[in-house]
Amino acid sequence: MPASSLSLDTLAALGGPKAVSRKRPAWPCPSDEEIEAVAASLRQGREDWRYLCAAPKGGPGEALEERMKRELGVPFAIATAGGGPALHIACMASLQMGDEAITSPYSWGQTTSCILQAGGIPVFADIDPETLTLDPQKVEAKITPRTKAIVVVHIGGVPAELDALRTLADRHGLLLIEDCAQAQGSLYRGRPVGTFGDFGCFSMGSGKNLAAGEAGMVVMKDRALYEKALLAGMHPARTGAEVQDPERRAWIDSLIYTYRINAISAALAVKQLDRLDAMNAWRRRNVKALAERLAGVPGIRALKIPAHRDPAWHMAWWTFVPEDVPGVSRAQYVKALQAEGVPIAASYVGTPIHLRTVFQRKQYHFGHGYPWAAHPEGEKIQYRAGDCPVAERRCAEQDLHMLGSWAMQDVTPLLDEIAAAFRKVTAQLDKVREIRA
Ligand SMILES: Cc1ncc(COP(=O)(O)O)c(C=O)c1O
Repeated sequence: MPASSLSLDTLAALGGPKAVSRKRPAWPCPSDEEIEAVAASLRQGREDWRYLCAAPKGGPGEALEERMKRELGVPFAIATAGGGPALHIACMASLQMGDEAITSPYSWGQTTSCILQAGGIPVFADIDPETLTLDPQKVEAKITPRTKAIVVVHIGGVPAELDALRTLADRHGLLLIEDCAQAQGSLYRGRPVGTFGDFGCFSMGSGKNLAAGEAGMVVMKDRALYEKALLAGMHPARTGAEVQDPERRAWIDSLIYTYRINAISAALAVKQLDRLDAMNAWRRRNVKALAERLAGVPGIRALKIPAHRDPAWHMAWWTFVPEDVPGVSRAQYVKALQAEGVPIAASYVGTPIHLRTVFQRKQYHFGHGYPWAAHPEGEKIQYRAGDCPVAERRCAEQDLHMLGSWAMQDVTPLLDEIAAAFRKVTAQLDKVREIRA
């Protein structure tokens, strides 16, 4: 387009000026108080090695566990090296080789890989289109005599339908494992997620709601499960002191992964917990404010989350509505907005998990065919396109996400600019159709 025909309204994708001039705040962003707390903890390490290594109890790792136990109202907690280790520990305590575990195809891969890591067979149930979390009816239809657990994820921070899943688990004698990696601070009927399952698994990785470098936590209510979890991932200095059951004591120092938390991350997490609620309150406010600004904008719609499920939005999901913008593809829509400076992206999940290579080839670290070969009918288990149509359509056509960890503070002026960019782009759909995506 010749420069002379460019105006303020010209789409940035076609050479015009950007509608969004403000930068997103940096994240992660430890506060001065948090940095000082870490430094003080390190200094204590000169006198007491537990401030440098969380193998035995007593240092910041235990302080973090005590704080989480108090805040969540649970009796047992194990601070871990990450959310992945927390999930793996939970699955090792719940599954044996060849056991089935039902999970969601719409997540970060580790919601599923923890099942495989423990030798379990992932069985996928579809999601609900409005909340993107496991549909309990679809879960029920997948239960077999070999099902031992449900691994449910609160994706993006949206709490799954926990009452129904808890009821199902109890009725069928299954363990319920909550992947709360993206949901620290999310509430279900006013109660924190992670306290409904037999295990609640959290991530405190640097992009999460609580950003402690690399860290995680698994919480439990049952002592036997706690002892099994300890044996799977904790140092004998701890298991020797804590595991009580004589049969389980025989397994001390036999099964362990080095999954304990780094004491430095623990010190950071303990201090940052002081401002988690305030940060999550900003997330909630910002997502609501953006939804209000985008209401009625063609091509995008907010999710419909029932009032008893209160997300502490780790990421905010939106739905692309092609019928609103005929002839405009999702790729064109996103490209036009990105060019304006809108922090929007399509398809966080990308390929639904059941359609990824590991399931198409049924090949994991154990070698071709394992762990499926440990299941009496493992050869018959197949993962096909069409198994989970809601998740598949969501990934292929509808996924959009906007607002991430950086939105844990007042970003109102940026939200106003984002809304203006949407208005600019959607007022010129004929031009958006010209964009090569
Ligand atoms: C849903 C989900 N589960 C598990 C994990 C793994 O957590 P970590 O990176 O702390 O191991 C993540 C990390 O992004 C996640 O988003």
